Amino acid sequence: MKGVILAGGSGTRLHPLTKVISKQLLPVYDKPMIYYPLTTLILAGVNEVLVITRPEDRPSFESLLGDGSQFGISISYAQQEKPAGLAQAPLIAEEFLNGEGFCLILGDNFLYGPGLGRKLQKLDSAEGATIFAYKVKDPTQYGVVELDNSGVPISIEEKPMSPKSDLAIPGLYFFDKEIVGICQNLQPSARGELEITDAIKDYMSRGKLSVQLLPIGTAWLDMGSYESLLEAGEFVHIIQARQGILIGSPETAMVSRSK
Ligand code: DAU
Repeated sequence: MKGVILAGGSGTRLHPLTKVISKQLLPVYDKPMIYYPLTTLILAGVNEVLVITRPEDRPSFESLLGDGSQFGISISYAQQEKPAGLAQAPLIAEEFLNGEGFCLILGDNFLYGPGLGRKLQKLDSAEGATIFAYKVKDPTQYGVVELDNSGVPISIEEKPMSPKSDLAIPGLYFFDKEIVGICQNLQPSARGELEITDAIKDYMSRGKLSVQLLPIGTAWLDMGSYESLLEAGEFVHIIQARQGILIGSPETAMVSRSK
C-alpha cells in the first residue's frame, strides 16, 4: 500500500519554535516528530511513502529520511506551495498515487496502542474511505464524527463550537482512488482551506465511509501545541524507559511487521 505524510503547514501555534524549522522536524523526546507518523505508516503495511513539505523545508526532510532504503521502504518527496488545506494532499500526490488508493497521515499525529499495527494492516484502500474516531474530553479543536446506534456515521463537522459527539477524527485516513476526483471538486471553506472533512462527507453521503473506534487506552495526540508536544515527548520517555522498547522507530517497526 501507498502512504502520504502531509508535513507542510505554517505551524503558527508553535511560534517561535517553528519560525525557522518545520514543525514536523521538532524533537519529540529522542526523535524528530515525523518519525512517529512514518512509523505508523510502516506498521500499517505501507512500503511506498510520499512526504509533502513546504518548499523551503524539503532539503531538510530529504537529508533526514533519504530514499527510505535504511527503513526498508521507498520515500519520495513533493511540495505544497501554500498551506491551502489538507485536502490538497491527494491532488499533490496524484502522480505518485497513479490511480491507487492510499493511507494519508498528518505529520503531527502521534498514535500508539496495543494491536494498532495489526488493526491497520487489515484495512485496505481499495473501496470507500476509512477514518478513526477517538473519544476526547474537548472535541472542539478537531473534526468530529457522530455515529448512530449501529456505528454508522451520520454527521461530520470541522471544529464545531457545539459538537454533536465527543468523537474526534485523528489525522489518519484510508481513501480509495476516488479521492483525487472528490478533492478536485471541493470549494475552500470559510477559513480559505480545502477541508479533508468535506471530502470525507462525500464518502459518507454515498454510504462509503467506515468509522473505526480506537480502543480505550490508545494514545492519540496531535502534536501541534506546546502542551501536546510536551505530552507526546513525556509519553515516549515514560514508556521507553519503563519497558525498554522504542516508540516511533521506523527500523523497529519494520522488524516487528515482518514477524
Ligand atoms: O489532528 C487531527 C485534525 O487535523 C482533524 O481532526 C481535523 O479534522 C483536521 O482538519 C486537522 O485539524 P488541525 O487543525 O489539527 O489541522 P492543522 O491545520 O493543524 O494541520 C494538520 C497538519 O497538516 C499539520 O502538521 C500541518 C499540516 N498541513 C496543514 C495544512 C492546513 C499541511 O501540511 N498543509 C496544509 O495546507
